[in-house]
Amino acid sequence: MNKTTHFDDAVNLIKRAKHMVAFTGAGISVESGIPPFRGRGGLWNSYDPALLELDEFKNKPKDSWKLLKKLFYTHFGTAKPNGAHYALADLEENGFVKAVITQNIDNLHQLAGSKNVIDFHGNISRMVCLACKHFFARSDYSLNDLPLKCKECGGLIKPDVTFFGEAVPEPANTLANRQAEMSDVFLIIGSTGEVYPAALLPETAKETGAKIIEVNTSETQFTNKITDIFLKGKATEIMGELVSSLLAGSKNWERYFLR
Ligand code: APR
Repeated sequence: MNKTTHFDDAVNLIKRAKHMVAFTGAGISVESGIPPFRGRGGLWNSYDPALLELDEFKNKPKDSWKLLKKLFYTHFGTAKPNGAHYALADLEENGFVKAVITQNIDNLHQLAGSKNVIDFHGNISRMVCLACKHFFARSDYSLNDLPLKCKECGGLIKPDVTFFGEAVPEPANTLANRQAEMSDVFLIIGSTGEVYPAALLPETAKETGAKIIEVNTSETQFTNKITDIFLKGKATEIMGELVSSLLAGSKNWERYFLR
């Protein structure tokens, strides 16, 4: 199949879909300046993921918080949504996307305007106290005096993101599985499929009858196993092309040429 037929097939599939769900990984935020975890330039090549294990965080909160501040709040905290995030928001506004399940914690889908976002691994814009389970907004704390202590009970504060060794939060887990089961088209953007249980969601979608469209710069664990249409390229480029085809003439169409 040549590239054009491939692309046209994806457009036709999406046009016919009754319930398309997008599933995003670190790759969608790379063009916002956020490095991926794995592969070339991956964070886990430079930093020790052990500091983001729950037990290690409890044992060495100051060291973990220093890394968290650098990675999540200095690095990620200033990033802005890119064309691929806006494309998903526009597709949702126009009825093509019913939900976005994201493994990313960067809050960029929400900033782009997506409404039905399921944060499968949490979100850095919230904090939680490990002792009293009280939730706080990121803006409730300055990051000068680390580790952060709960304003209510003095317990250790953690970003509300899923660490290694932690279960996926509820209701995100249930909602994401429900969306995967309901989907007839499941659009994977920028995920290696190496982290579980997140990587099971596309498999659930496939098993319950969805067609899988995958957007990535390289092949992944999903590509030869479950993907029906692989669109090779950068998320902003492919999503920009998809939106131009799907929303031609709509009110958001021009912005893909202006951005
Ligand atoms: N456009 C599309 N895809 C891209 C781009 C791009 N511009 N740049 C990189 N990619 C692809 C890579 O080829 C790779 O397949 O994005 C993927 C990023 O993979 P990972 O870094 O493994 O990200 P992800 O699958 O989201 O990781 C899952 O791992 O460490 C945990 O909790 C963390 O949520 C994260 C989870």
